Amino acid sequence: MPDKVSTLLLFGATGDLARRMLLPSLYGLDSDGLLPDDLRIIGTARTELDDDAFRGRAREALETYLPAGFAQTDVVERFLKRLSYVALDATQPASFAKLTQTIGDINRGVAIFLSTAPSLFSPTIAGLEAAGLTSARVRMALEKPLGSDLISSREINDSVAAAFPEERTFRIDHYLGKETVQNLLALRFANLMFEPLWNSSHIDHVQISVAETVGLEGRGDYYDGAGALRDMVQNHMLQLLALVAMEPPTNFDATGVRDEKVKILRSLRPIKAEDIDTHCVTGQFTRGAIDGETVPGYIEELGRDSTTETFVAVKAHVDNWRWAGVPFYLRTGKRMPKRHTEIFIQFKSVPYSIFAARGARTQPNKLIIGLQPEETIRLLVMAKTPGLDRDGIRLREVPLDLGLANAFADRRRRIAYERLLLDLIEGDPTLFVRRDEVEAQWAWIDGIRAAWSAAGVAPKSYAAGTWGPSAAIALTERDGVSWHE
Ligand code: BG6
Repeated sequence: MPDKVSTLLLFGATGDLARRMLLPSLYGLDSDGLLPDDLRIIGTARTELDDDAFRGRAREALETYLPAGFAQTDVVERFLKRLSYVALDATQPASFAKLTQTIGDINRGVAIFLSTAPSLFSPTIAGLEAAGLTSARVRMALEKPLGSDLISSREINDSVAAAFPEERTFRIDHYLGKETVQNLLALRFANLMFEPLWNSSHIDHVQISVAETVGLEGRGDYYDGAGALRDMVQNHMLQLLALVAMEPPTNFDATGVRDEKVKILRSLRPIKAEDIDTHCVTGQFTRGAIDGETVPGYIEELGRDSTTETFVAVKAHVDNWRWAGVPFYLRTGKRMPKRHTEIFIQFKSVPYSIFAARGARTQPNKLIIGLQPEETIRLLVMAKTPGLDRDGIRLREVPLDLGLANAFADRRRRIAYERLLLDLIEGDPTLFVRRDEVEAQWAWIDGIRAAWSAAGVAPKSYAAGTWGPSAAIALTERDGVSWHE
């Protein structure tokens, strides 16, 4: 039930996520009049700063990361007035007292956004508890990484659960805040025409690609311990897969949606050591060029030797009645030729072509949901090429383009965190990940990593600016499928 809070507490407020995403998102909400009038935003981190210095940093973040022309002086000033700062060493329980004092009456509701090093999770929760900041009017949002496998994720979840029950725990997967991801649900469940075809009788295969051009972006220490499988597949890509594959929920609410997603995540077929060669490819980029610019290899960028994968492709199966026999090909990598995030659904061919005798070839229909760089929804259908057909009929694949950019040209495209922060402030957990989902995700990912170890998998090299190791192409071509690029 929506239940607005009047304080938002940002742990890690001097960090990169706060600067790039959280403060600009909160500004965006404020400028649209969506933040509660009395909402105060308290930043906290270890660095000693006073309120003015924090506001100065926030102003700089807005200047750097908001789109040109979006920052308006009066709104910026109003926004900055909401901010204050408390320096805090999470390992010192006594330092939480200042926080309690600054927050004042917690009965007016507090939402905490925790984005700190994993080692600080438990001490932070303990400090909040000791300071009386875990009461029924306090909710907690958690940003990844929340563990590196099922066991460590359970430990973190247990320590959070000791202070915050599941209904007050909001686990963030920022992909769920993306407009096109939510649009996938509208497409599937607000239209009659897709759902009858949305199964193994009519869908040949699904591809989910998240290609990035960026490399380590200064996050080497975290990334090298994670790798592409844990950084991207465990969370974002499995959430996308679950939304594509799930049954219609009874309601668009936290229980309805998450109950259906978790069933899919639990139906993922484990990948065993003997399946690795045919179901999985890992890669690590070497020096290459992107957009004509030379970029260093992973080892060079990291500054030390490593066998961490920066690319992974997996052939997954959802073992249930609806999806039996339909491969879900997942692929993600750093330093790919272009930024390209999409869900590609290929339908089966028509059962019989009445045009074949007239020389025409039909292609199976495809539905392409583009997330980045542009938000698009495109259905590829067959159409007749204009003409008198004296030499036979010519058919061609043409796109039925939903043209979201034009249809909603009057709407500002929001940062994914805007949606998630507003839902957190208002208390709607629908777009946050429940513990059972996270655990099902980790269980499947742990299985793959165990299979890698058993099979002695080492990442294959690929040059920066290419689509990964050639084995990734073979992974789908073996099934007669090409990656859509
Ligand atoms: C993060 C990963 O969760 O998602 C990053 O840690 C990755 O490595 C990022 O770059 C991608 O997010 P987006 O929204 O840019 O696709």
